[in-house]
Amino acid sequence: MDRLLRQMTLEEKIGQLVQYNDTEDAPQAVTPPPQPDAGKPGAIAAVNPLVAHPVNAMQLAATGRLGSMLNTIGAARTNTYQHLAVDQSRLHIPLLFGADVIHGFRTIYPVPLGLAASFDPQLVTDLSHMAAQEASTAGVRWFYSPMVDISRDPRWGRTVEGAGEDPYLGAAMARAYIRGYQGDDLSKPGSVAASVKHFAAYGAAEAGREYNTTDMSEIRLRQVYLPPYHAAVEAGAATIMSAFNSLNGVPSSANPFLLAQVLRGEWGFNGFVVSDYTAVMELINHGIALDAATATRKAITAGVDVDMMSHFYDTQLPELIRSGQVPMAVVDEAVRRVLRVKFATGLFERPYAEGVEVTAAVAKNRPLVGKAAEESLVLLQNDKIADGAPLLPLLPTRNRVALIGPLADDKEDMIGALGGAGNDQDTITLRQAMEQRVQQLGGVLVYSKGAEFDSTSQAGFQAAVEAARAADVVILALGESSNMSGEARSRAYLDLPGSQQQLLEAVVAVGKPVVLLVFSGRPLVLDWAAVHVPAILEVWFPGTEAGHAIANVLYGDVSPSGKLPMSFPRAVGQEPLYYNYLPTGRPPTGIDLSQPPGGDTRFFSRYIDVPNSALFPFGYGLSYSSFSYNDVKVSRSSIPLPQALANRGKTLIEATATVSNTGNRTATEVVQCYVRNLGASIEQPVRSLKGFERVTLAPGEAKQVSFLLGFKELSFFNLENKPTVEATQYTVWIGGSSLASQEATFEVVPSMGIAESR
Ligand code: BGC
Repeated sequence: MDRLLRQMTLEEKIGQLVQYNDTEDAPQAVTPPPQPDAGKPGAIAAVNPLVAHPVNAMQLAATGRLGSMLNTIGAARTNTYQHLAVDQSRLHIPLLFGADVIHGFRTIYPVPLGLAASFDPQLVTDLSHMAAQEASTAGVRWFYSPMVDISRDPRWGRTVEGAGEDPYLGAAMARAYIRGYQGDDLSKPGSVAASVKHFAAYGAAEAGREYNTTDMSEIRLRQVYLPPYHAAVEAGAATIMSAFNSLNGVPSSANPFLLAQVLRGEWGFNGFVVSDYTAVMELINHGIALDAATATRKAITAGVDVDMMSHFYDTQLPELIRSGQVPMAVVDEAVRRVLRVKFATGLFERPYAEGVEVTAAVAKNRPLVGKAAEESLVLLQNDKIADGAPLLPLLPTRNRVALIGPLADDKEDMIGALGGAGNDQDTITLRQAMEQRVQQLGGVLVYSKGAEFDSTSQAGFQAAVEAARAADVVILALGESSNMSGEARSRAYLDLPGSQQQLLEAVVAVGKPVVLLVFSGRPLVLDWAAVHVPAILEVWFPGTEAGHAIANVLYGDVSPSGKLPMSFPRAVGQEPLYYNYLPTGRPPTGIDLSQPPGGDTRFFSRYIDVPNSALFPFGYGLSYSSFSYNDVKVSRSSIPLPQALANRGKTLIEATATVSNTGNRTATEVVQCYVRNLGASIEQPVRSLKGFERVTLAPGEAKQVSFLLGFKELSFFNLENKPTVEATQYTVWIGGSSLASQEATFEVVPSMGIAESR
């Protein structure tokens, strides 16, 4: 590699650090919005990152002045560009083609938030591997995925792209994606390089407003937001994408603390960092650079190796190098990192799209994405109805079915935000799947759209109400359209959009049993439904096999097993709402937090108009069976502190519980282990997830489940921002949600066997 580097001209080196899209797909030029200070003396013109740059990507590729391309998909297109780079450029260095493949390439699985509800990392690995195989046939060898940003605020639209609010689950998912994309050897056909994004803490954007400021203590950063990125780096992630947001006043795409100190220094990351789309240019808007040259200098010296779409590295670096403002060694190191990844992916040996190009959903991959969709569904409510049984699974005798709602017969919205190269026409709608079912049962299905996402019109209500009247059961498919979540899709309200809430109320008023299917890329406020609708199933955006997966769960072929990766609020004003909050000095102890405040007017940390608790908490999800937890135990009552500190990689204590299937059908439960640490020098969350396991049990069957807790699980970040364990008390809960109540306790004692009084 160093030999290659020595042959490169400055221009060729810089070329490796530059990334563009196809010329024809470059964003359209738009008029920059008027800036409030424009024209005033000293005012800095804000840049509009959406203005297109006049680059000719083909020419750049042919002359060795382009290193990688984004969202250029398809064997013909990638091969055309690749031939220019490999055949015509002086040093024949191949291009790397990156794309936003985040939940499937052509065969689409649930959006990442939904997939996180499966609590099934092996499934995530299998799916990611499948996506990598499909995409490499189209020349794509680099995914801008996984997005591992922790999100505690569903107003933020990109919540849909991550694994939700919890760092432990987030880290498990991050590792699973990397294993699937990169396999055990990145150079093998069918593996792709991952780009872990968006580094860092993008999900903590204030007020959930897209691209907004992030400001937090370093302890919170390390304890809550960094673990999934760290897990991805430990799993061997080849590249990282630096985020748009600033962190504690320093934009992430020019942040030496994040990129040099933490990522490369502490974690030993040796892949390359790519900026997010025009993030280098946006340093000007952040107000930390007055011009393109300064933005470029700050980004590259902080550790951003590749400039995605800003057109700054190619225009500014030559002069910055010549004038000595950026040392040549900085550019050389960035190029080395890019080449290292290109060598590791085997791109020099196999630069072109491989195998038979996958251009549509792949039949043999459908069962896997279908299984994923089934596992992602979360049963939020399943009340008994008049005949004394829970409404779900549906009785075959209820075979006059009304299927109502804007998502009932909608191919496009089954895929969800950022659906790779998935084609709507490949997806199975609910209507298709339900019609098949109902026909088999000898019944009749009446479909009525009822409402639109983006209109308050009630014109469709009457037909919907009539359909409901004539039915034994009503399936309402409501929620967000897929483009209501994702990038730049922040919402200030978390209700059902358009006139859907009114439609729901009108249909429920008919008095027939109603199943509400909620399609969404984020937690929604379902407070009315929780009181008035017997069965609620959160289905996210399930992907290519959406209709079949939902029908399989509705009719009980599969018992739901998904658990919420994010808290569902009662009201948007509770946000950010998360289960692993820090205690306060005025906790409303002894008050039932699931109830609205009563006559108690004492001064507690609570709202006067809504309970503190989530409507549906993290980790929660019902099954068609039921489970009980017993004998929650720990293997020892105390751990000497010196032992805890000296055995960082080893198990210190084992927590166990017996879980039994107390219902009458085989079902899968996600057993969860939570820990609280009391008495430390820094406040610790009221509980934190530290383990989970999917367990399938036959009726009456019981199993002992055990969780191994070591330094990693018991430690926290101290005032020096170092992970540590202190002599403190621990409580462990094992159960089926973050409200698990069966507990055991142990303590870490200062030295062998002597408990110190604190
Ligand atoms: C998004 C990234 C994405 C990139 C390339 C940006 O706007 O923030 O997540 O990978 O575009 O499409």
